[in-house]
Amino acid sequence: MKIGNVEISGNVILAPMAGITNVAYREFMKPFGAALTYTEMVSDCGLIYENKETYKYLQTSPMEHPVAIQIFGGKKESLYQAIKIIESQNIDYDFIDINLGCPVPKVTKTGAGAAWLKRKDELSEMMKLLTRVSQKPVMAKIRIGWDDNSINVEEIVTILQEAGVALITIHPRTRNQLYAGKANYERIKDIKQIMRIPLVISGDIFTLDDAIKAQTITGAEGIMVARGALGNPYLIKQIDYYFKTGKKLNNPTLQDQINYLRLFAHKLVTLKGEYTAIHELRGIAPHFFKGYSNTKKIKLKLSTEIETFNDLEELLKEIQSSML
Ligand SMILES: Cc1cc2nc3c(=O)[nH]c(=O)nc-3n(C[C@H](O)[C@H](O)[C@H](O)COP(=O)(O)O)c2cc1C
Repeated sequence: MKIGNVEISGNVILAPMAGITNVAYREFMKPFGAALTYTEMVSDCGLIYENKETYKYLQTSPMEHPVAIQIFGGKKESLYQAIKIIESQNIDYDFIDINLGCPVPKVTKTGAGAAWLKRKDELSEMMKLLTRVSQKPVMAKIRIGWDDNSINVEEIVTILQEAGVALITIHPRTRNQLYAGKANYERIKDIKQIMRIPLVISGDIFTLDDAIKAQTITGAEGIMVARGALGNPYLIKQIDYYFKTGKKLNNPTLQDQINYLRLFAHKLVTLKGEYTAIHELRGIAPHFFKGYSNTKKIKLKLSTEIETFNDLEELLKEIQSSML
């Protein structure tokens, strides 16, 4: 697939996830075959008002290219300013992505995220401006509409495409659905017929078979993986390998999962320091042992007790010995 003039070497795309897809996570995931990565969503106002935390989200790694910086905001002027700030920062990145799908009230009440789906004229103006002024290709990530009574995905895709967007990711749920129900691939099964640019499908890709199904129904060039790869990085490899060779790889072993978690923990500690990293890992580490019934107690300890890297190591040893 080609995005603007940039060739992408595979079709598996690591989704943006606020609070998770920091540079350590992306560096960890990239070697599994993520063809394109995204930063967490970055607030335009956070950049304009020089919020230190916001600037941290802009960090990219030399080994992750191509990488998209995703921004969100409710006004065209502030999004424009944010792009100019990013361009002044000496950051190595390949694309700007505009978040038009975030359903969280804190975001939508400012007019940002999925709230743009209700303002078609303003959206068109905003996107035309951003594609004109950005030095890098601009992409967009959307939902299919605000609610069941206002599904307007075809109109939105047309607006974005006419504005010069280089790629569109669709998460086929409405804003009001949040994460309830199922991603509705069928609803966008014909969308490729009106698209001249690549389509990425996002939503409910938890297994290789989910990826095959989503791709078959929608004809998408790219498959975005978010929650499904959290604690299961090998899913990316399985999807990438299948679409390149037609062959299916076995699932990873428990020992593999232990090794992956250890590697990710090292990277997160290097980025954030031990205290913050280990506390963040409380929310992430248990995902590495999803589906392993004999790890229930240890998962609870991982999510509530770890304070240091050593605590994590001790629990990993416990899991290892339970395998003997
Ligand atoms: C914790 C979390 C944070 C997310 N943050 C973002 C974000 O910053 N930007 C964005 O466009 N989507 C975000 N999403 C949406 C995902 O990128 C993805 O579209 C959605 O989760 C559906 O895919 P999945 O079913 O594979 O998880 C987030 C999702 C989750 C679960």
